[in-house]
This record gives sequence, structure tokens and C-alpha cells, in this order.
Amino acid sequence: MAHGHDHGHEQGHGHGHGHAHEHAKDMDWSQMIPHLERGAEVYAPLYTEALSWLRASRPGGTGLIVDAGAGPGAISLQLATAFPDARIIAADPEEALLARATERFAAAGLADRTGTLRVELPDTVDELPDADLIWAARSLHHVGDQRAAIAALADRLNPGGTLALVEGGLPLRSLPRDFGFGRPGLETRADAIEDEWFDAMRRSLPGAEQHVEDWPALLTAAGLKGARSRTFLLDLPAPLSAAGREMLVDMWQRRRGVFEEALAADDIAALDRLLDPEDELGLHRREDVFLLVAHTVHIAVKG
Ligand SMILES: C[S@@+](CC[C@H](N)C(=O)[O-])C[C@H]1O[C@@H](n2cnc3c(N)ncnc32)[C@H](O)[C@@H]1O
Repeated sequence: MAHGHDHGHEQGHGHGHGHAHEHAKDMDWSQMIPHLERGAEVYAPLYTEALSWLRASRPGGTGLIVDAGAGPGAISLQLATAFPDARIIAADPEEALLARATERFAAAGLADRTGTLRVELPDTVDELPDADLIWAARSLHHVGDQRAAIAALADRLNPGGTLALVEGGLPLRSLPRDFGFGRPGLETRADAIEDEWFDAMRRSLPGAEQHVEDWPALLTAAGLKGARSRTFLLDLPAPLSAAGREMLVDMWQRRRGVFEEALAADDIAALDRLLDPEDELGLHRREDVFLLVAHTVHIAVKG
């Protein structure tokens, strides 16, 4: 995800630029619950579109779906809506996130066709049931050997089953290039720092391997057929919803904490103004903040 990965989303989700958070090996994903949930709410239109495309790619029946690295299960719920006849298993290493997923499924009245499973890729991938669709959204990049993890997931597919990965896309934009103070281009500079953080996070993972992140090629190498990719846009123009604005404030707040040493002094000063709730040109109050970002979905089918 280093390149073209939607770092902004991750950060909005609390990891992103939160990559920096992930970098800490003892990262506490449970602390990320509010960020992951707010992010999922804001990104819902993108996933609705992506899942409708995925649904159309599977004209036959889809009995069992595994959401691998589901987090608190917000997108698992969208999977349940997109595939109304399927049973959905939210799989994640983190109990606290799975507990949120269970609550969410019950609140939606979907307890009877949903479940959770504690699974950590690649170690316990064998505990996953054979599935007709495995959806792994921004979770694979937390695994040291991504190629091996894709092969292991492909093994868990029923014949005709689809493996769908959400990785890469375009970085998030939220502000005009020149937002009225500081040096223009802050977002581009933040992306570069984010890439460094992300790379350090990847290198720190157990069993870290460097492979070309050509996702369709990796799907094909795992024996899957018809690999293809499509990118979905989240285009939320100003004025943003309260949730959208909160997600951005949260994302920039994290960047402020994490990028302290990497950002130049004038950029830090600009960030402090952006984060000042009293400043009329700050993120809390200005009218021109927007959210523009793209996520890519890569799919392939077991022959
Ligand atoms: C950025 S969140 C994405 C959550 C959700 N899929 C989404 O798109 O909103 C990354 C998720 O991957 C999970 N994860 C981290 N390492 C993992 C691993 N080794 N195997 C499976 N999931 C993992 C985390 O617990 C977290 O829930």
C-alpha cells in the first residue's frame, strides 16, 4: 500500500497515517474502534458501490463469505446487505473488534446469518471455513508475507469462489492546495511521510517479505483465474457531514502526533492552526474541507 495506498483512510481509521500506530508492534487495535467505525460510516458509499460490482461478478449463489481482517464488522454488515442469501463470518485476530462486530450484527437483526472467528493471518488461516467469497480489505498489508497469505486464502476458497482484496488506490485529499496559510502542498508532503511510516511498519512485521505489490499478479500466482481490478471513488464535496469532518480532524490530529519529527517547522505550525478549534481557517470551522479518495478492489476466482 505504500504507493497509491489509501493512507488517509487508514489514518482516518486510526491507523493511517496511523500506519505509524501500526508500526508499534503492540498496537492496540481496540483503541482504534471509534476511528474504524467512523471511517466505515464515512466510506459506506464507496463500499456500497464496490460490493455491488463484486455482487455482479458472482452471478451464481454465494453461500459463505469470510471477511478476513474485518475489524469491527461495519463492512461485514455491508457484505450481508449486498449478499442477502449469504452467511457472513467476520474474522480478525482482535477479540475486542470481534465483540463489536457481534454487537453490530445483533443490532441489525442479522445474528442468525453472521458469526465471528478469531483468526490471524497467516498462522491460523486453516481455521477459516471453506468460503465462496473471501473479502480482505486493508488487512493483508498487516501480514509480513503478503504473497503467502494470498496463497493461503486462495486455499480456503470453494471451487468458483472469489478472493477480493482491497489494497491501493489514491491518497486522500481534503484541503485546497493552498488553504490560506503555511506552505502550499502540505497534503503531498504528508503523503510522502506516510509512505515512509508505512514502509517501516511493513518491515517490522514478523516474516516481512518484500514482493512486488502487483495484486492481480499475486492472485494469479496463487492459482486463481480472471484477476482484475477496479477502483472506486469516494467523492464527498464540501460541505462535509459532521462525521466526515470529524474523521478528517482525527486523521490530521494523528498525523500531528506521528509526523512531529518528519515535518518541517512551518508545516507543524500550519497543522497546529488547522487543528485549532477556534481558528476560522481551521479544520473544525472552515467550509471548504472535502473528502476525495479512491480504493482499489482486486478480484480473482478459483477455477
Ligand atoms: C485497517 S483495519 C481494516 C478493517 C476493515 N477490513 C476495513 O476495511 O475497514 C485492519 C484490520 O486488519 C486486522 N489485522 C491485523 N493483522 C492481521 C492479521 N495478521 N490477520 C488478519 N487480520 C489482521 C486488524 O485487527 C484490523 O481489524
